[in-house]
Amino acid sequence: MIAYRHTLEGISPDQLKGFFVGWPNPPSKEAHYRLLEHSDAIVIAVEERSERVVGFITAHTDQVLSAYIPFLEVLPDYQGRGIGRQLMRLMLDRLKDFYMVDLLCDEDLQEFYANLGMRKATGMMARNYERQTGEKLVE
Ligand SMILES: CC(C)(COP(=O)(O)OP(=O)(O)OC[C@H]1O[C@@H](n2cnc3c(N)ncnc32)[C@H](O)[C@@H]1OP(=O)(O)O)[C@@H](O)C(=O)NCCC(=O)NCCS
Repeated sequence: MIAYRHTLEGISPDQLKGFFVGWPNPPSKEAHYRLLEHSDAIVIAVEERSERVVGFITAHTDQVLSAYIPFLEVLPDYQGRGIGRQLMRLMLDRLKDFYMVDLLCDEDLQEFYANLGMRKATGMMARNYERQTGEKLVE
C-alpha cells in the first residue's frame, strides 16, 4: 500500500534513495531532504511495507497569487501504477485557491498534465549546472 503524506514527519534522508534519475550530478539524499523541508507544500508517496519514499512532489508559492511546481518524480520501479497522477491530484488540490499554478515539462509529458486539467503553455528557463548537486554554498 502507498500512503500519501503532506509532511516530512517520521521521514529521514535515508528513506530518499534512487531519485533524480538521469541527472549527471544528482543532489545527495541530504540535499533532497533539505529541498523538501524548504518547499511550501510537499506530498510524498511512501510504500508502507518498506517505509521507502517512492515518489514526491514539491511546490513554492508567494502565498497570494502564484504557485510553481518544480519537482515531481516517481521511482522507476513504481512508475505506471497511478502514483504520479495521485501526487499531482493531491498537490493541485492543495494549490486550488491560487490564481496561477505553473510548471515546466517536456512535450511528451504535456498529455499527462492535460489529463489532470492543466493547459499547454510556452515557457523559459535558466539552469546553473554547476549548482545541480544542491550542495550548500556556506556550511
Ligand atoms: C512523469 C511521472 C511522474 C509519472 O508518474 P507515474 O506514477 O509513472 O504515472 P501514473 O502511473 O500516475 O500515470 C498516469 C497516467 O499518465 C500516463 N503517463 C505516465 N507517464 C507518462 C509520460 N511520460 N507521457 C505520457 N503519459 C504518461 C500513464 O500512462 C497513465 O495513463 P493511463 O491512466 O491512461 O494509464 C514519472 O514517469 C516520472 O517520475 N518520470 C521521471 C521524472 C519526470 O519526468 N518528472 C516530471 C517532471 S515535469
